[in-house]
Amino acid sequence: MSWQRTPPDHVIVIFGANGDLSRRKLLPALFHLHCEGLMPRRYRIIGNSRSELSDDGFRNLAREAIERFSGLGPDDERFGEFAETLSYVSHDFRPDDTDPLHSALDRAEREVGGEPRRLFYLAVPPTAFPTITEALGKCGITQRCRVVFEKPFGTDLESFRELDRLVHSVLEEDQVYRIDHFLGKEAVQNILALRFANGMFEPIWNRNYIDHVQIDVPEEIDVGRRAGFYEQTGALRDMLVTHLFQVLAFVAMEPPASLDPEPLMDERDKVFDVMAQMTPDDIVRGQYDGYREAEGVAPDSTTETFVAARVCLENWRWKDVPFYLRTGKGMAEKRSAVTLAFRSPPMRMFPDFVDPRRFAPNHLTFELGPHDGVVLAFLAKKPGPSIELGRAHMEFRYTSAFGDLIGDYERLIHDAMIGDRTLFSRGDGIEAAWKVVQPVLDDPGPLYVYPRGSWGPDAIDRLIAPRQWHFPVSRSHAFEPVERSDR
Ligand code: BG6
Repeated sequence: MSWQRTPPDHVIVIFGANGDLSRRKLLPALFHLHCEGLMPRRYRIIGNSRSELSDDGFRNLAREAIERFSGLGPDDERFGEFAETLSYVSHDFRPDDTDPLHSALDRAEREVGGEPRRLFYLAVPPTAFPTITEALGKCGITQRCRVVFEKPFGTDLESFRELDRLVHSVLEEDQVYRIDHFLGKEAVQNILALRFANGMFEPIWNRNYIDHVQIDVPEEIDVGRRAGFYEQTGALRDMLVTHLFQVLAFVAMEPPASLDPEPLMDERDKVFDVMAQMTPDDIVRGQYDGYREAEGVAPDSTTETFVAARVCLENWRWKDVPFYLRTGKGMAEKRSAVTLAFRSPPMRMFPDFVDPRRFAPNHLTFELGPHDGVVLAFLAKKPGPSIELGRAHMEFRYTSAFGDLIGDYERLIHDAMIGDRTLFSRGDGIEAAWKVVQPVLDDPGPLYVYPRGSWGPDAIDRLIAPRQWHFPVSRSHAFEPVERSDR
């Protein structure tokens, strides 16, 4: 299994090294890999950004980031070893000025010895990708390299195509790692395991049994220090066309011939090909109250911090099964889940039957965090002399079954180092996804203000009607008795 492989020697360059992504995810993930003995035998990490910072300053930044964002306290000895691999170059890396980074790379490679592989991680906003990519080409350092592009890859269909052309003028496709960290989540990969490793789910995984699907990723956090990035992207580009679409593809794809990268990617990409183009009626955009007052946000900003969407797949399996997607910042809770709501049985013999179009008591939920697992909710007979139904559930929780999980960035950075592209995206799929949302990028429709700590603007209820959003109702579903009928 790839996870057990030790990557070859590496020099890793993080562009945007003092940004939010680097602090929150990349540095903690690299340290975690180091502690688990999953980094290469010899490696160096170079941080780069325009901000002035010394090597020691970067090491301190890494220590603080790891303490704050990782489950691990940076125990001194291990952090000491890790810190020795870190250096920093403060420099605006662009096609007409590549020397400082080039020299830093040479130095690091000499320290590692031999001909280490190069991993360039672009942890920068998508608008900075072209300059850095071009500079990598001009600098002549693309041999032995792989380049990780954070999402979103492009900001619309046209910019995607331009970027794709540029990237392929500098790199071969097998050097390009378009990351979407949701695919690195164990619980997302478990969607494939549950579907294809078991005999009982796949036969009912289609329009004959499934009424609709919800993919819900509410977040409590606001945009914080990320206004610069967020103003350029918004929830639709940052989350919907990326993370939520990728998860949708795992739920909806046909069984691949094998789990090798190409067959898996082929099936995933076919899902984007059959997605109907969205119209303004298919989305609800929102902005949390107070967003415009945040530092770095335009006072008349129309950037959405929330989006809900209805996505339809035009294929045999999913025809007329809507997928409802929702995500936003400043919402009531942090939770990511996929819920499949099943159709009612053909006959309603029980008095208490709840109409599944209102809210299905029969549903299968993949909890993608924070409490990763799978919950199957159903109706059961309550003990007693009469036929009375109560809601019940069966639950699988990852940590109680298998112990600690591997982090998403850990998994994907390790995959990039060993050259496994299975969980990364191909250009074709991303292009097809941009095609689906382009009409709503051109004509986004109204922007509703919603209160912080809520589940989004009221207009989302019209989007899903006559069905209902699974959250927050389901929080108590397992224990809530269904009202007894008067019969
Ligand atoms: C990132 C987005 O890709 O994913 C963020 O840019 C978002 O806006 C984050 O908060 C959510 O990821 P996770 O793994 O914390 O759910």
